[in-house]
Amino acid sequence: MASTPPQTGPLRHFLQFRDLSRDEIRYVLDRARLIKDKFKRYQPHHTLHDRNLAMVFEKASTRTRVSFEAGMYQLGGSVIHLTTGDSQLGRAEPIEDTARVISRMVDLVMIRTFEQTRIERFAAHSRVPVINGLTNEFHPCQILADIFTYIEHAGPIEGKTVAWIGDGNNMAYTWLQAAEMLGFRLHVSAPQGYQLDRKRIGQPSDTVLREFADPMQACRGAHLVTTDVWTSMGYEAENEERRRAFADWCVDAEMMAVADPAALFMHCLPAHRGEEVTGEVIDGPQSVVWDEAENRLHVQKALMEFLLLGQVA
Ligand code: CP
Ligand code: NVA
Repeated sequence: MASTPPQTGPLRHFLQFRDLSRDEIRYVLDRARLIKDKFKRYQPHHTLHDRNLAMVFEKASTRTRVSFEAGMYQLGGSVIHLTTGDSQLGRAEPIEDTARVISRMVDLVMIRTFEQTRIERFAAHSRVPVINGLTNEFHPCQILADIFTYIEHAGPIEGKTVAWIGDGNNMAYTWLQAAEMLGFRLHVSAPQGYQLDRKRIGQPSDTVLREFADPMQACRGAHLVTTDVWTSMGYEAENEERRRAFADWCVDAEMMAVADPAALFMHCLPAHRGEEVTGEVIDGPQSVVWDEAENRLHVQKALMEFLLLGQVA
C-alpha cells in the first residue's frame, strides 16, 4: 500500500499535553477510535508505510515500549530501540548531537527520560517530530489514553470530576493540563510535601483544580478515581520516606464508595497492590486498567499518524 505524502506544515512535537490544541486532541481521540475499530476487525491500516520510529529509553518501560513498537509496525513502519546503556548517550554524547544525528535518519522519535528540559533540548535540535514517552514532569501519552478510556466507558469527560490520589507527579501535572484544556475538574489529594508546586502551576481556577488534605474528600462525587505509584522512576532514594508519608493515600473500597456510583478506577501501571491501591479496587468491577493500558496502543498510533501526516480525515 502506498504511504500518504508527508505533512508540509511546520514541525510538530508532543512534549506536553498542551502542545496539541483542544481540537487536535479531539481529532486524535476520534482517529484512535477508528484505528482501534479496524485493529479489532483485523483490517490493515498502513498509513505510515516505510516510516521509521526511533525510541530512546533512559528509564525502564513495559507498556510504552510495547505499544509504540507494536503500533509503528501495525501502521506499516518499523522501529529502532535505543537505551542510555547501549547508545553513546551513556558515554556523555550531548543530547543535541544525538538529536541532530538520529533525526536525519528516521521520521519520528519517542523519548523517555528524566528532566523535561532534556527532551526540549532534543526537540530543539530535531528535524522530525518528538514524542514524550514520560519525563519527570509529564506523561502526556498516558493521559491521552486515559481520556480515550474514560470516553469509551462513560462518554464525554467535559464537566466531570477526576480525583487524583497520591503523588503530585508527572501524571498529576499532565491531568491538570488536560483539565484546563478539555473542561473537567481535577480534585487532588497529596500528602504534605508532595502536592502540586504552585511555582509550576500558578493559580488555576476553582472550576479546574481543587486540592484536599483528606483523600476521602477528594473522591467524594468523583466520576474517575485515579492514582499512581508512591515512588516514581528516578526518585528511588526517597522510597522509605515516601512509604511513611503516603500510608493514608491508598485507594480502597471506602474511597470508591464515596465517589459517584458509576465512577471508574484507573492506574497508569505498574501498580503496587497494598500501597497506592488495594487489590480489591484495582481488580474490582470499577477498574478499567487493562483497557487503559491497551488504549496506549491505539491513541499513540493516532498520535504518530497526526504528527507525520496531519489531519487526514
Ligand atoms: N504506564 C506506563 O508508561 O508504563 P511503562 O512504564 O511500562 O511504559
Ligand atoms: N509516575 C510514574 C509513572 C510510571 C509509568 C513514574 O514516573 O515512574
